[in-house]
Amino acid sequence: MNRTKIISKGMFLILLFVFAVFAPFAFGEVIPEDPTKGGQLLVSKGCAKCHALRGEGGKVGPDLGKIDLGDTQLNLAAKIWNHAPSMMTEMESTGMIKPILTGQEFAEISASLYFLGFFDEPGNPVKGRFVYAEKGSFLCHPSSGKGSAGAPGLDRFPKNVSPAFLSQAIWNHCSDMIVRMVEIGMKWPRFWEKEMMDLLEYIKTNATGVEEPAFFKPGNPKEGKQIFTSKGCIQCDSIRGEGARGGVDLGEKAETF
Ligand code: HEC
Repeated sequence: MNRTKIISKGMFLILLFVFAVFAPFAFGEVIPEDPTKGGQLLVSKGCAKCHALRGEGGKVGPDLGKIDLGDTQLNLAAKIWNHAPSMMTEMESTGMIKPILTGQEFAEISASLYFLGFFDEPGNPVKGRFVYAEKGSFLCHPSSGKGSAGAPGLDRFPKNVSPAFLSQAIWNHCSDMIVRMVEIGMKWPRFWEKEMMDLLEYIKTNATGVEEPAFFKPGNPKEGKQIFTSKGCIQCDSIRGEGARGGVDLGEKAETF
């Protein structure tokens, strides 16, 4: 076989691989149930031999926890396509046999990679202390005990305080907070750039409350979809066209052609 034929055969095989892997997304959405499963596959399929995940693992390829994956599955397919030739060369040179992945396995791996991107880089607690003062958080939440209106001090926040905890607390208590701010004549503070991450890190240095078991495990996207409906989010917002019009389409990052 001449060189052109070998290359086109190689490209055809890669195309077939990308197609096989992404077919489940094209012909019916696969919503993964546990993003940690893909993390185990990254190890068992040998990806971790060459790739680190947020600092831990191989150094031959780029750290998969730090690269820009693009917003959609097809963006990821394009990235894999572009890097496939060098990846194959690397695998050959180390004598590694190319792992075979089923569509489901690839769905798990990509869910896990996108999930890693969901975590922010840790904030800076010193800057967070400044944010806490500047936004007036201390007016209701002292660093220990209870505030004058009964709001918990930072030491009552769970030891494993997480972004999910903060979002939940903000969502559940925002009406009380708005009322209180109107009472004391305070403007609703706004957060920009890394301020929320810095504040979280500062809260962590003070939090000594009981750990929240709900925040140990990553969420289950499939159940999340049901909650989006059962809590009524779908009555105002939508996900990729499914839900109300006029609100925010939370899936709108997907490309439209
Ligand atoms: C033998 C080493 C090796 C193995 C095993 C390997 N990769 Fe790679 N991978 C690389 C190298 C090297 C690159 C960078 C290639 C380049 O720069 O063109 C890369 C690039 C990538 C990229 C693109 C990164 C970017 O910057 O956009 C992705 C995504 C990726 N690999 C995923 C995987 C997955 C998933 C597996 C396991 C199923 C895997 N790789 C297994 C070596 C490997």
